[in-house]
Amino acid sequence: MSTDMFHLGWFLEGSSAQAWNQEYTGFIGRDWMRPDLMVDVARSLERAGFDYVLLEDTSWVPDTFGGSSEVYLRHAIATPRQDPALVAAVIAQATTRLGIVPTLGTYAYPPYQLARLVGTLDQVSAGRIGWNVVTGSSDGAARNFGRDAMPEHDERYVRAHEYLDVVNRLWGSWEQDAILDDTTAGVFADPAKVHTVDHTGKYFSVRGPLNSGPVPQGRPVIAQAGGSPAGKSFAAAHADTIVSTAKGVEEMKAFRDDVRARMVAAGRDPDDCKVLFLTSPVVGLTEDEATQRRRARHQEGLDQAAIRMFSQLAKTTNIDFSVYDLDQPLDTLDFATNGHQHMLGNFVARAGAKPDATLREISASLYGEGSIDFTGTHDSVAGRMCEVMQEVGGDGFLLVSYSLSRRHIAEITEGLVPALQRRGAVRSRYAHATFRDNLLEF
Ligand SMILES: Cc1cc2nc3c(=O)[nH]c(=O)nc-3n(C[C@H](O)[C@H](O)[C@H](O)COP(=O)(O)O)c2cc1C
Repeated sequence: MSTDMFHLGWFLEGSSAQAWNQEYTGFIGRDWMRPDLMVDVARSLERAGFDYVLLEDTSWVPDTFGGSSEVYLRHAIATPRQDPALVAAVIAQATTRLGIVPTLGTYAYPPYQLARLVGTLDQVSAGRIGWNVVTGSSDGAARNFGRDAMPEHDERYVRAHEYLDVVNRLWGSWEQDAILDDTTAGVFADPAKVHTVDHTGKYFSVRGPLNSGPVPQGRPVIAQAGGSPAGKSFAAAHADTIVSTAKGVEEMKAFRDDVRARMVAAGRDPDDCKVLFLTSPVVGLTEDEATQRRRARHQEGLDQAAIRMFSQLAKTTNIDFSVYDLDQPLDTLDFATNGHQHMLGNFVARAGAKPDATLREISASLYGEGSIDFTGTHDSVAGRMCEVMQEVGGDGFLLVSYSLSRRHIAEITEGLVPALQRRGAVRSRYAHATFRDNLLEF
């Protein structure tokens, strides 16, 4: 197996409503509740050998932009969302090898309930489930769970450490060989192999064991996306895969090196966690076609900056961006937040690079961007992706559609991925049956 191989994941929102108003999505505004688009996407990703699909989520209808939900509802931004655990179950039923990673907030579920839910998903998917651990950032979401606001940023991670400790122990509360299925002796499970966890900590008190039985992977795959120092330390302690928006090759390399050093400090082998960088390649049959499509996306960014960018940013930072004049420079404003520190830092860093940049200009330059832009033919983009991975050191990319459609999925899974496979850069077939084994294959 080549050591130059890398992994691919796909970032999806939790319902097909994200594709509303896009070309090549049929009557999605009518059909979005049905799982067909999600299932088609998942099957395409599996055919292309992706490691996983990550189902993003938040648990509220945002109202941070302009103090109302209007912009979110009018444009289907961040809402509606279906429950990602149920969407994950449907995708599991339609696939056999793809890893499936629903996002579930530690603020939203008691640890016992989460351990049981994710453990059950791992059972019904035959060992293909991951959990994207988010600690929550929106005060509006906190208000759906009996709090006025999210706890302070770093404390969320302290609480999440204890949370992970509890769920890990619950997943281990049935030994792998606890079920004897001995019909002759009349014994289903060996009681000596099922244990309470008896946890009493600062935040949680849980007795255990889980009532849902052993977990096929032992511990489902843990995904994480924290960008702050506390977030990175948390990920280094627990994650099997980290998704990042670190910008450009240098930052990507620095991010990965930092995470790997933190893993060593935490006593882990750094090769046991795969860092995937967000990107949304624009491909075409010719370089010209791809360049034109990239320009069109930038123009869409300029046109939609106010709506898409600032409503998303308002959702995650709890800041009402509607009060600012979009054509005013950013440098006089104070954007301290208790929400996504990394995302806001990114935004302000852009302004810092050009102090007189206006909010509109900055948001347009960020629209549709991830860690790195790729534009070109399938083959040229594949070549450039390989070069970037060489420079960064690994471990792969998390692809995203800024306008999800069957056409875009086909461009990637039937166009770009075969070009990567011809180069031996990504897998052509799965070597293993379970998610973590495939993730650790190279
Ligand atoms: C690619 C990516 C996907 C994310 N998906 C979600 C998500 O689905 N739900 C959520 O609440 N936060 C999501 N986040 C936010 C992270 O969980 C985290 O809160 C954020 O990166 C800020 O971390 P920090 O506060 O440590 O900087 C995502 C972040 C990134 C970079």
